[in-house]
Amino acid sequence: MAFRISEEEIRKRVQEIAEEINRDYEGKRPLLVGVLKGAFVFLADLVRYLRVPVKIDFLAVSSYGKHTESTGEVRLIKDLDHPIEGEDVIVVEDILDTGLTLSYIVRLLQDRKPASLKTVVLLDKPAKRKVPFKADYVGFEVPPVFLVGYGLDAYEMYRNLPYITELKAVEGEDG
Ligand code: XMP
Ligand code: MG
Repeated sequence: MAFRISEEEIRKRVQEIAEEINRDYEGKRPLLVGVLKGAFVFLADLVRYLRVPVKIDFLAVSSYGKHTESTGEVRLIKDLDHPIEGEDVIVVEDILDTGLTLSYIVRLLQDRKPASLKTVVLLDKPAKRKVPFKADYVGFEVPPVFLVGYGLDAYEMYRNLPYITELKAVEGEDG
């Protein structure tokens, strides 16, 4: 049986995370930084459950190229539109795997002197970690298999699936 997280399970967990953020950031105006492209679905759902006033920006990095195994190399492809000095920044990422991407992003943003910097990931694959990294908010711990759906892609496909499943469960179905 392929690993799978249903639309309903995702919705419930995203609401719970939003409630934690609502509590932790009461009285603040956090800046959510979505990591393109994978986080776009998670971010879009998450912000609609937030009651604290938020600002939103995006950055894009590349670490995987076209492959499903990390090359270990992280490149900044699109930077933020605005400075973040003094901002309460929350980086929103789809999945934490080797930890290389988020470590890179945190180092990059920390240098810009935000008032605070936290990370939220929908999925965490602790078994694949190459550098130590703990996200502040985690949706689900997942096994070390390649996942697609809910923003996650394989060769740019399957981002639109409303649930998360193993690549092997959908491969071959539509191309
Ligand atoms: P690292 O290894 O740097 O990886 O923590 C984070 C980035 O790797 C991608 N990634 C995946 N993408 N299914 C995907 O579609 C997966 O199972 C998967 N595991 C890692 C992802 O782009 C993330 O930003
Ligand atoms: Mg990807």
